[in-house]
Amino acid sequence: MKHFTRLSDVKKPQKLLKNALKLKQDPLASQKLGKNKTILLLFFNPSLRTRISSEKAALNLGMSCIVYDASQGWKLEFEQGAVMNIDRAEHIREAAGVISQYADIIGIRTFPSLTDREKDYADAILYQFQEYASVPIVSLESATRHPLQSLADWMTIEEFRKKKKKPKVVLSWAPHPKALPQAVSNSFLEWMKVADVDLMVTNPEGYDLSPEFTAGIPIEHDQRKAFEGADFIYTKNWSSFEQYGQRLEVPEDWTITPDKMKLTDKAYFMHCLPVRRNVVVADKVIDSKRSLVLHQANNRTYAAQAVMQEILKSL
Ligand code: CP
Repeated sequence: MKHFTRLSDVKKPQKLLKNALKLKQDPLASQKLGKNKTILLLFFNPSLRTRISSEKAALNLGMSCIVYDASQGWKLEFEQGAVMNIDRAEHIREAAGVISQYADIIGIRTFPSLTDREKDYADAILYQFQEYASVPIVSLESATRHPLQSLADWMTIEEFRKKKKKPKVVLSWAPHPKALPQAVSNSFLEWMKVADVDLMVTNPEGYDLSPEFTAGIPIEHDQRKAFEGADFIYTKNWSSFEQYGQRLEVPEDWTITPDKMKLTDKAYFMHCLPVRRNVVVADKVIDSKRSLVLHQANNRTYAAQAVMQEILKSL
């Protein structure tokens, strides 16, 4: 694997999943692999889980890790041919080239603008780094995808699924006071398509995700109907794709409640975190024994480690 930005970068996703689950059993097994190698984690947006789990993963592999918080004040120019006479002091072409001389792998977190759909869905920041850097790029969440989260979520589902049943996995929209990206949900669907699960999406009218990600997946606008018989309820808020980046009026209550969870087949509750309690999910659901949110967060380390391990082997 050269880069890790989306599912199609991975030749054998099932093998990557297996490796991640194996690493969880023995996280320090490949400590020599990363000796004298450095990963630089570049954050244009804040993070708790991704930042710390990626750093832990690098350390488990014996790599040095540099975290660069670029969320405050580092104004990069991304336009080609730009006349840089205003406030952007450095162009991506030099920045990516320079960082490539300091690091063997670059991880990048960047969020969408939620104002320009075409630009966001081109994921220009991530792919310009890929173009101008001379080392592998790992997405730490981009405008459109969050593949490290999806791999960790897949691990979690594999660990908790009933052995004799193909699980029904429902991605459910839930309310949120702010307009949020679609990246986690897009990516979850992308990865679940190669998992052995029955997948469904439920969201209010006007909140259908991009057809690029929902193609072939049933979309149910009645949340209660979607929950019937479900084994996993994966919850996430996202802003509208159709009316791009907007928060639309939703007349029904879409919060995940104990009442709704009773419609499922004793489903596990999943969320990538951070989560707004009693807005996205009721305390009684997230605090229940069927909540997997901490398992998902724990698996972030081993998902990142499996990806870094495969990239290190290719260097
Ligand atoms: N789930 C996730 O990516 O969390 P952070 O934003 O804290 O990294």
